[in-house]
Amino acid sequence: ASTIEPLTQQPTQQTDVAPVSKEITILYGSQTGNGQSLSEEFGLKLESKGFKVAVSSMSEYKPKELKNLSNLLIVASTHGEGDPPDNALSFIEFLNGRKAPRLENLHYSVLALGDTSYEFFCKTGKDIDQRLEELGGKRLYPRVDCDVDFTDDAEEWFEGVFRGISDVTEANSSGDVAVADTQTQSAEQTAYSRTNPFHAEVLENLNLNGRGSNKETRHIELSLEGSGLTYEPGDSLGIFPLNDVSIVDELLRVTGYNPELSIQINKQGDLLSLREALISHYEITVLSKPLLEKFVPFVTNEELKSLLDPEHADELRTYLSGRDLIDLVNDYGPIQADEIEFTSILRKIPPRLYSIASSYEASPDEVHLTIGALRYESHGRDRAGVCSVQCAERLEPGDTVPVFIQRNQNFKLPEGEQTPVIMVGPGTGVAPFRSFIQDREERDVSGESWLFFGEQHFMTDFLYQTEWLKWLEDGVLTKLDVAFSRDQEQKIYVQHKMLEHKEELFRWLEAGAVVYVCGDETHMAHDVHATLLSILQTEGGLTSDQAESYLADMQQQKRYQRDVY
Ligand code: 2AM
Repeated sequence: ASTIEPLTQQPTQQTDVAPVSKEITILYGSQTGNGQSLSEEFGLKLESKGFKVAVSSMSEYKPKELKNLSNLLIVASTHGEGDPPDNALSFIEFLNGRKAPRLENLHYSVLALGDTSYEFFCKTGKDIDQRLEELGGKRLYPRVDCDVDFTDDAEEWFEGVFRGISDVTEANSSGDVAVADTQTQSAEQTAYSRTNPFHAEVLENLNLNGRGSNKETRHIELSLEGSGLTYEPGDSLGIFPLNDVSIVDELLRVTGYNPELSIQINKQGDLLSLREALISHYEITVLSKPLLEKFVPFVTNEELKSLLDPEHADELRTYLSGRDLIDLVNDYGPIQADEIEFTSILRKIPPRLYSIASSYEASPDEVHLTIGALRYESHGRDRAGVCSVQCAERLEPGDTVPVFIQRNQNFKLPEGEQTPVIMVGPGTGVAPFRSFIQDREERDVSGESWLFFGEQHFMTDFLYQTEWLKWLEDGVLTKLDVAFSRDQEQKIYVQHKMLEHKEELFRWLEAGAVVYVCGDETHMAHDVHATLLSILQTEGGLTSDQAESYLADMQQQKRYQRDVY
């Protein structure tokens, strides 16, 4: 039933556009799964409001259909240095290509997910938003760019979109419908989630590396007993870390703040002492341009303003790298803001995601992680990865940590159980493959599997060595190739092992194998990608363009999946 608008009502901006249908398409480009779960949640809410909703990843959507759409919501994440997620690549290529259609009838809105500590914050979402406008689309609500703590901003965007969409559809736009009331239907309230983490007990915490290793890789077992949480191979576990108290105390010292002062940490009015808030709630170890901009009014030092001048972009980049809030206060202080003003510019400490290293089928009450402790020196101080070093140094059996399961549909075992899998996972990148093989063992899957593992030294760094060798013996793992980079003069990496077996590897690819790559993005995943291209050229006789499209097709068919960081 349509409502008759009073004559005094201002016309909406879209009066020149014909009313559109109640159909909405939601497309997500998501690397770690946040974009996907948000999209699914929004989809359910819109359905409950009478909309016909289609939710899909960008890669599974036929972009030629775009020209027939009236309402499109985009949820796009950005990762690393402004890179689109793998499952957004083909869609973006289509939008930017010559064949992209005019989209005059399209109403759209973009939710961009990102991290302000990266220079190209939310770039994927921004680019898509701009391109859809260039193609003639009309925004039904302005784009919202979310930082890592995205929940509230995403909800706000959705409510805005909902109002916008009710304006342009023939729907019974019954004004400001409370969107929140649908929340109860979509998410089970009792379930533990990112916004309501489960406090998991630590069962085991071991160093996997031998004495004398350059690395410290922790194998951590957590209990999920009583949580009702389940997971699949390829999923990740999110952990909310605590800052190191020695860093917090040093920050309190350089600012001269009162550690006991009460700070309201959220809209709900929860209070913590400043010291507690700096330990458990705020991020204090990462600097970003937006943070420095907010810091400017707190200091009289003019050099900070000058550092933020666009002309000094390179200096700014150098400054931000490897420094924290203590450095900022030391370098540009004294700070002329009180405790409450100071904390108001800080962002919430984001959870860290770790690929799960165990199988739910094999141990349903547990989740295992493989975490490399990150320690380094920069600008004259020893630094530590907040979560990894907390896990290494300050988590003992009996302690609890707040955790949640992060689904990752972009890293899943093939549906066909006979499909061969090729797993490339040097270092902690091996974690999900332990989950894969445990799972295959538990379910008696007989499809072939091939693991490429690499680390520095055979003697000290062969993570889970006895397990792999046993699986190899039992036939759960078909082939194992290892690259120990520092056991000889010349570096040997996983990709060298792949090249060494290029004939067989190409045969596996042609037989339909799925290739999984997990671990370091900038160096390893990049070099492995180049190696796959080169194998396709030499073994398959393809040109470089053909090899590129072979891999792109594999990606499209979910036969080339990456979990890289
Ligand atoms: P390196 O540290 O001796 O250079 C896990 O960290 C393993 O990945 C180590 O053996 C490391 O070798 C190796 N590694 C470093 N860069 C790599 C790259 N570009 N490709 C593959 N492996 C790499």
